[in-house]
Amino acid sequence: MKYAVVTGVSKGLGDSVAQQLMEEGIHILGVSRSDNAELKEMAKKNEVSYTHYTCDLSSIDDLERVFTLITNHISDNQPEGIYVVNNAGVVEPIDHVGALESEKVVQHVHVNLIAPMLITNLFYNKVNETPVTIVNITSGAANRSVYGWSVYGSTKAGLNLFTETAAMEQEQRNGLHTSIAFSPGVMDTDMQEDIRSSSEDAFADVDKFKELKEKGMLRDTNTVAQALRKLLFTQPLENGQVYHVNDLLDE
Ligand SMILES: NC(=O)c1ccc[n+]([C@@H]2O[C@H](COP(=O)([O-])OP(=O)(O)OC[C@H]3O[C@@H](n4cnc5c(N)ncnc54)[C@H](OP(=O)(O)O)[C@@H]3O)[C@@H](O)[C@H]2O)c1
Repeated sequence: MKYAVVTGVSKGLGDSVAQQLMEEGIHILGVSRSDNAELKEMAKKNEVSYTHYTCDLSSIDDLERVFTLITNHISDNQPEGIYVVNNAGVVEPIDHVGALESEKVVQHVHVNLIAPMLITNLFYNKVNETPVTIVNITSGAANRSVYGWSVYGSTKAGLNLFTETAAMEQEQRNGLHTSIAFSPGVMDTDMQEDIRSSSEDAFADVDKFKELKEKGMLRDTNTVAQALRKLLFTQPLENGQVYHVNDLLDE
């Protein structure tokens, strides 16, 4: 049996990724603060299991408690393969440096960067006989400065380097595990609503993002999740690679 842990499973891309993996016959362990009732039904249809773990990924205690349960659950079931999709993310605080609230910055870095680091570390530490594939959901914002997104761009850039370094270490240690990053492009989710609700003073490109929505240029999360599924199951993965959705879609 194969298992996948998907963080941020309650909505948006995480919901779609969980559905695509279920269609591959993979059992899903979903992590978020709120549950996703629709996924229970999807699991039944696909004859796989769906177990939800309530967890606030900005709390290290909560994360360690929940992920100890998760790794124990998977190990008890003698898995053939394990996927971990570090998808949960936040974009706020959106503002220029000098106007950022300390608590929001700390919370953001916990969810977007520290949680994927700790989760990857835990799996690589505890799983020695089954290959673990880590998929870290990144963003194009990792590669350029965007006015108002200093925190978001920094956590995604950090996530890319963490992915590459974990992969390089596995290669040098002849390890079993793979880590990749996947950049999903702009998608029509609640995160985009947060972005559009920013003031122009906080986020200089706000009008550009409003226009993307008005012109129907935000992708559907199912299309993006299908591209990720194709990447994971139809070609060998290059350890440490940052993949972009645009290179995987037949458009
Ligand atoms: N949307 C875009 O245009 C876009 C573009 C590039 C990259 N991305 C990346 O794609 C990923 C998914 O984004 P999305 O657009 O699908 O976002 P979304 O619709 O806002 O969903 C975010 C998910 O993260 C979870 N989450 C947030 N804070 C959490 C916390 N403290 N603890 C546990 N879970 C938490 C939420 O669950 P709960 O609220 O239930 O906890 C939710 O399931 C993110 O990593 C994002 O950075 C998005």
